[in-house]
Amino acid sequence: MFCTSFFLESMAVRIIIGAQWGDEGKGKIVDLLSSDVEFVVRYQGGANAGHTIKFDDQKVVLHLVPSGIFNGKASCVIGNGVVIDPVALREEIETIEDMGIDLTDRLFISESAHIILHYHKLLDQLKEKNRGEDAIGTTGRGIGPAYVSKISRVGIRAGDLLNETALKRKIESNLADINEALIHIYNETPVEVDFIYNEIRDSVNRIIPYICNSTNLLHDALKSSKSVLLEGAQGSLLDVDHGTYPYVTSSSPTAGGACTGSGIPPMAISNVTGITKAYCTRVGNGPFPTELFDEDGDKLRKNGQEFGATTGRPRRCGWLDLVALKYAVRLNGINELALTKMDVLDSFKTIKLCTAYKIDNEITDIFPSSIEKLEQIEPVYKSFDGWNKNINEIDSFEDLPQKALEYIDFIESYIGVSFKLVSTGPKRSETILRS
Ligand code: IMP
Repeated sequence: MFCTSFFLESMAVRIIIGAQWGDEGKGKIVDLLSSDVEFVVRYQGGANAGHTIKFDDQKVVLHLVPSGIFNGKASCVIGNGVVIDPVALREEIETIEDMGIDLTDRLFISESAHIILHYHKLLDQLKEKNRGEDAIGTTGRGIGPAYVSKISRVGIRAGDLLNETALKRKIESNLADINEALIHIYNETPVEVDFIYNEIRDSVNRIIPYICNSTNLLHDALKSSKSVLLEGAQGSLLDVDHGTYPYVTSSSPTAGGACTGSGIPPMAISNVTGITKAYCTRVGNGPFPTELFDEDGDKLRKNGQEFGATTGRPRRCGWLDLVALKYAVRLNGINELALTKMDVLDSFKTIKLCTAYKIDNEITDIFPSSIEKLEQIEPVYKSFDGWNKNINEIDSFEDLPQKALEYIDFIESYIGVSFKLVSTGPKRSETILRS
């Protein structure tokens, strides 16, 4: 078994944060670290996430169930901050059970987590279509509209699934507004409560046994000094407050969201681990200062197999952006970093790092918050010689090629935080822990 104990020393509660625009390889890192952890908690997002885990020559993509499910005995919690599509969750539960994993006393679903219904997915897709050129490029999984229902205080929560009559009444009362929009804004046929309910009925029965008061469960866990890993989905730059708004997701993937999305208080957090790729990717629309439209971009996409785990869309690719990474480190209080997909750079002759932005003829190392400024950024680069060596099988940090170490060194000194882990391939074994 991959030993991560020293990585976890002094940890009680650790947050795993995506430090870019998502798809940083959080699934692999959570899977690795969860072998020594007692609770793994998803705290935001929904089935828009796709956390890929590779083990024993199998590849599994998890959308809702925490990535600790395949490792050790960790209890896996879908926290109150998550929005749950019952149909997607049922499919995932069945896939995991088919692999011989018993979820009894392993999976816990917060009764306060909000539920994604048919009309959330429909509205997500219709709104995107209406945005035309300004489309956000959402995953179409109903995430935004489900959070709108939550914030508008008309959402259906997992706890509501326990009482069919009350559930139908709540859906019915929502349908007045929803159908109004469907008919008058989108020219669509209205939907009926029985249709909505029948679509989820079988799935609801499959997930009911796991619904609980997860906040209380986690408070008890903290009281008995259990170790907890909070698994972020998406990434810091997609955060609804701090990301490249409006081209963001509708939740808070940043460290603050980990507390509100789980009920774990800030003072309980001992470590915040940021995950960054050795380069950058983004799916969907919105600013991406270091995006490449040349052969290097194509090569990153091909070598890194950069296609969305949820939607299959090709990801936009570019050089690592240190201005954005430093911003993510500050936002989240990241005190240690993991560098993923380092091997994807193995055959590049020249590798670049963005060290500053030029905006309006001024050089800055501050990540702007306005979309107008974000769209004007011209990246300032520092070039590095590539190492031209396959690093997949290297298992100690010191054995990495000198040029790779220089690349890592530069990032660390720019950011002021060191890498504890370097991932050199998709498998668990292709991981270097730094002592
Ligand atoms: P939504 O979360 O489906 O509303 O999509 C909003 C934006 O976030 C879009 O640009 C998506 O491509 C992006 N996004 C959502 N989930 C993920 C993810 O797990 N990885 C990367 N990008 C994501």
